[in-house]
Parts: sequence; structure tokens; C-alpha cells
Amino acid sequence: MFSHLPTPVLDPILSLSVAYRNDPRPDKVDLGIGVYKNSAGETPVMKAISQAQDIVVATQKTKSYVGLAGCEEFNQNMIELLLSGTSAMERVAAIQTPGASGALRMLGDLIKVAQPGTCVWLSNPSYVNHRPVMEEAGLKVKQYTYFSPQTKQVDTARMLEELAQAGPNDVVLLHGCCHNPTGADIDFAAWQAITELAQKNGFVPFVDVAYQGFGDGLDQDVQGLRYMADNVEEMMITTSCSKNFGLYRERTGAAIMVGKSLQDVTNAKGKALTLARSTYSMPPDHGAALVKTILQSHELTGIWKQELSEMQQRLVSLRKSLCQELRNTHNTSQFDFIESHKGMFTMLGFSQEQMAQLRETYGIYGVGDGRINIAGLTEKDIPYVAEVITKVS
Ligand SMILES: Cc1ncc(COP(=O)(O)O)c(C=O)c1O
Repeated sequence: MFSHLPTPVLDPILSLSVAYRNDPRPDKVDLGIGVYKNSAGETPVMKAISQAQDIVVATQKTKSYVGLAGCEEFNQNMIELLLSGTSAMERVAAIQTPGASGALRMLGDLIKVAQPGTCVWLSNPSYVNHRPVMEEAGLKVKQYTYFSPQTKQVDTARMLEELAQAGPNDVVLLHGCCHNPTGADIDFAAWQAITELAQKNGFVPFVDVAYQGFGDGLDQDVQGLRYMADNVEEMMITTSCSKNFGLYRERTGAAIMVGKSLQDVTNAKGKALTLARSTYSMPPDHGAALVKTILQSHELTGIWKQELSEMQQRLVSLRKSLCQELRNTHNTSQFDFIESHKGMFTMLGFSQEQMAQLRETYGIYGVGDGRINIAGLTEKDIPYVAEVITKVS
């Protein structure tokens, strides 16, 4: 059965991590894989998570099954973090999923059942796993222009022109904030314009929120999403606790459905649960139990928000320091766009060859498409990285 299978092609980002680990150079810098790192280059367990873990260990009486939808209090917590204060709160349902990846797949499968001929529009570029997940779910995929290689910002005019072609058989996938891989986010006016197009032309928006709190703050990062949820009849949302709760390996996320009525989304949730039943059955509990414990405690919520805000500020400050170094020491404002980008990633605009040169000649590991993870920098790396960026550009 297995002997005719081809040798698998390694995921480019994961194989980059292996190459980095095996690189003996002492001044190597890992700006590849998308995990947050602190100033010591570590991805530690957040304090709020450690404290919640102590509580869960001390109070949990059973490891018996929770249920197909996972922890319903967690689901409600996720809905509130994303949609609080919107009219969508009256017509929304959620299921807990194994990370946002699991949520993307569950909603992809749901779309396939609800409207089999649907085409999903992805930004060009988009998160590397968006296309495979949607294609494996049996959906067609199209791309819309997103990033301008010249300005390193969103090409809003072209994006809107192309999205004006999307209609009732289409789903438009947007990044809620901190666009992966570019770091360039759409502004509030663009959220309003896309909402208007969805109302007029009938496509369903699908918003993937993997970095809430990493851009400008927990509420600020979902301002556009909330406006949209208030003004469209139907939408889908995926969310992840990998980054903002640091729960990567615990696989904690949710798939959220907003519909015309509570009855509609109750039906959609029921269908999503039958799809989950035949896939992984139930999501893992531990991460959701920790998040619920934090969000139900005033004190732990305060600790978590403080830590998250420190992480967000660190990203802003690293961006600022790198730009300052490039401006002051290397006399170039060519990379000022880095400071305007949000979250962990920035698209440098370098070619595959330039990224290979960064890696091979200078031991700086970014992704081949030009993406670097700002969180992978430490303050002491900045002079070296700025010098190399100038040399390679
Ligand atoms: C845009 C985007 N969506 C989804 C995910 C998947 O996150 P999770 O770890 O929750 O599966 C990521 C992770 O990098 C991401 O960047």
C-alpha cells in the first residue's frame, strides 16, 4: 500500500528550523518559524498560564470526555474576546477546535457541505497553510492582490477592485490583524469597504484571527472584524490561542459562525459537530481549560493582559530599533516600512536568492518568500541584522 508513495517534500518553514539547529555559527539568528520569543530568545510558558495550570491540576477531578464542541465556557470566552459589543452576539455559535488550523479545516468542510461549489479567495500572499487546507476540504481557491512589493503596504485599490468580482458562491478570507506573512494590515476604511462589497455582492467573509493582541491591542486588533460582524448577515471566524496565550502545542482554538439567526447558526454548529465527530471527534481539553480559568478570574485576566501587552510592546520596540539602526548607522530609510507593519512578521521584499544569501553567507534565517519573524530578534542582534540587510539589499 505504501510503497508507491513519493518521498514527502518537507514543509519549507519546518525544514528551515532543522537547518538552523544544525548551523554551528555562533552569531546565527533565527527569524524563521512563527513563534514569539522574549529578549532571551525563549518562548516561555506565560505566568497566567502557569498559575491557571496549578489551579486546573488542583481542582480537576476527572479526565472523562468533555464533548464534541469542547468546553462551552471557553467557546463563549472566545466569542466575547472577538465580538463583544456587536449585534452578532445574538446570532453566533462556536466550537472549540485543535488550534486555528483545526478551525480552518472544520469551516472549510462546513462550507463544502453547505455550498459545495464555493470558491475561497485568499490574499496574495497568505498564510502558507490556507490554500492546502481549503483545497483538501474540496474547495476551489482564488487569490486577490493584497501586498504591493513597491510600497510594502496593502494595495487597497487593487484588492477592492478584485474583490468586487466576488459573489454569492464565494468566501473571502481575510486576516483579522497582523497579516501573515506580510505584516501589512488593511485599515478600518478597507474593512468598511469590504463589508459594503459583501452586503452588495453576497460573498461571505471569513476572518482568520491568529494574533489578537499582537498588533495594537486586544480590542483595537478586532475593530475591523467587529464592524464587519455588525453589518453582514453571515460570516465565519477562526481564532487561535497559540500566540496570545502561548499555548502552541496544546492546540487551542475555535471556529465561530455568525448567521442570519440563532436558529441558522445552531444548525451550522450541529453540522460542524458531525464533521468533527468523523475527523478528530473531540478537541484536546487542557489548553481550553487553562484559557477558561484565566478569563473567568479577574486577577488572572489582569496578569495575562499585562503579559500580552508587554509582548506587543516588545514587537513595536524591536521594529523601531531595527529601523533606527538602518537609518542612523546605514543611512537608509528604505526599510522604514518595517515600523508600520503589525505583529510578528514583516515581508522584506527580498528575492529567494537574497533570502538564501542571508542564510548561507550570514547565518540569518528568514523564510524563502522574504518573511522575517521580528520576534526572533534580540536587541543584541539588531546591529548585525541591520548591517546584513543593507549589504544584501
Ligand atoms: C494566519 C494564521 N492562521 C492560522 C494559524 C494556525 O494557528 P494554530 O497554531 O492555532 O493552528 C497560523 C499559525 O501560524 C496563522 O499564522
